[in-house]
Amino acid sequence: MAPLFLALCLQGDATLYEQGRALYFEKGCNGCHGLKAEGMTSYPTLANRAKGFLAHRLEQYRSGVTETQIAQIMIPFAQPLSDAQIDALSTYLHEFVDETGEGVSAKFQTWGDGGS
Ligand code: HEC
Repeated sequence: MAPLFLALCLQGDATLYEQGRALYFEKGCNGCHGLKAEGMTSYPTLANRAKGFLAHRLEQYRSGVTETQIAQIMIPFAQPLSDAQIDALSTYLHEFVDETGEGVSAKFQTWGDGGS
């Protein structure tokens, strides 16, 4: 009970965007969808997509419904989410701002280009 209470207190003043960002990393979404929600291999980009679409998909997955076979991977990640958490996650993803200013592939562009 205490850790939950503490977590609720800590989140008390956080904006929906900040709550969504914290959840995105706590729930491991970054492991498949990327640190910047940019997507990887067969895991779709989530950053800056329509909020209603993102929330709708998470609600579908939570109820066990998917439109593709690969999306069944999402069911166990969506099932524990509350309505408030889906709202926070979809707000964060929809409004996503890249605070590093690096751009998604900056590291790859400089790799091996040691000024030679
Ligand atoms: C183990 C890998 C994995 C993790 C972790 C994961 N996802 Fe996904 N996600 C997927 C796959 C696979 C799909 C479905 C792609 C498809 O249908 O082609 C998907 C689809 C989605 C979609 C729908 C996108 C679309 O274009 O239809 C949303 C929204 C989403 N994930 C959000 C999340 C959130 C939020 C979390 C964290 C709670 C999360 N995902 C964690 C693999 C993952």
